[in-house]
Amino acid sequence: MWSRQCDFNMPLSRLAIQQFRNIEACDIELSTGFNFLIGPNGSGKTSVLEAIYMLGHGRSFKSSLTGRVIQNDCDQLFVHGRFLNSDQFELPIGINKQRDGSTEVKIGGQPGQKLAQLAQVLPLQMIHPEGFDLLTDGPKHRRAFIDWGVFHVEPAFFDTWGRFKRLNKQRNALLKTASCYRELSYWDQEMASLAESISCWRAEYVSQVSEKIARICQIFLPEYEIQLKYYRGWEKSTPYASILAENFERDQVLGYTFSGPNKADLKIKVNGTPVEDVLSRGQLKLMVCALRVAQGQHLTEVTGKQCIYLIDDFASELDSQRRKRLADCLRETRAQVFVSSITQSQIDDMLDEKGKMFRLEHGTIEQNI
Ligand SMILES: Nc1ncnc2c1ncn2[C@@H]1O[C@H](COP(=O)(O)OP(=O)(O)OP(=O)(O)O)[C@@H](O)[C@H]1O
Ligand SMILES: [Mg+2]
Repeated sequence: MWSRQCDFNMPLSRLAIQQFRNIEACDIELSTGFNFLIGPNGSGKTSVLEAIYMLGHGRSFKSSLTGRVIQNDCDQLFVHGRFLNSDQFELPIGINKQRDGSTEVKIGGQPGQKLAQLAQVLPLQMIHPEGFDLLTDGPKHRRAFIDWGVFHVEPAFFDTWGRFKRLNKQRNALLKTASCYRELSYWDQEMASLAESISCWRAEYVSQVSEKIARICQIFLPEYEIQLKYYRGWEKSTPYASILAENFERDQVLGYTFSGPNKADLKIKVNGTPVEDVLSRGQLKLMVCALRVAQGQHLTEVTGKQCIYLIDDFASELDSQRRKRLADCLRETRAQVFVSSITQSQIDDMLDEKGKMFRLEHGTIEQNI
């Protein structure tokens, strides 16, 4: 049954959460379009988004400590979701986390599934108020952005990248003890070949998604012209194998491999200047939205999969006109969207007949009829 995972391009039809932060238990039927989570501060809106995120990634986006997410005085948490495909075939998926840190993932009723399989079934895009660190912080976030896209379109990427990271770690250890380059050269050949593959996939992905990003930026930020440039992590036109060999002595002094795909970046400028020097906070947020919506569109185009958008604190820093543009863009993608907001008036622009509204209060969730 699990082999039918590829059929599941459909959104979540049902969500059950237990003992997750302030949510003791909830079980809700969802809209395949917009789902609005409305409630005062501390009512549990972000926690619902965090639970869905955990279902797709196996971890929280807020805390790396499972103990913080499990409800106080409880031993474990559960999140269950159910998907319906176009033949009305149901795929249940669930995650259970214990206070001792152990995790159990079930997909289609089968226990012992890997976390990467969750990500395959549930491609998620998270947009939250601090999300513009994608643009303003170091390259780590932008590499994660590129790799999200490559992971979903290139089946060999996950294993190749994992293998590269293991070899890189091993190389860094060898650098400390090696007396000459010959001791590394055998491993470097494999590492170089993996690095070239990773880099090609990333470059190809960036070139494909850039067009879409530019088009959506035209809608959100028409006054700016965006430039995206992929940096693969080492000098252009030099094979990675030569970089490793030529820089052996420098790497030895540093104690780690200086150049490589783990240094890749996506350089983003507007009108020729780095974005963080030009754009306001609201505009940075809009650009992040453009990047994420473009990724979702590209995923659907290439794989037929729909991604699910989690948008926390929707209204913060966006004016009504920009909120409406974002909503229209998301509606066009026909993706399932979860939107949290403190008041209903802030999401009035997005309401339609297909959407469902949920009211939250002290960790309880009720559907607004
Ligand atoms: N492990 C836990 N057990 C019980 N309650 C918790 C736990 N962790 C956090 N909480 C509480 O759960 C609530 C969840 O808040 P959450 O961030 O989901 O609210 P919110 O509706 O998004 O609020 P805001 O509008 O301020 O963003 C907080 O009041 C928090 O104190
Ligand atoms: Mg919140």
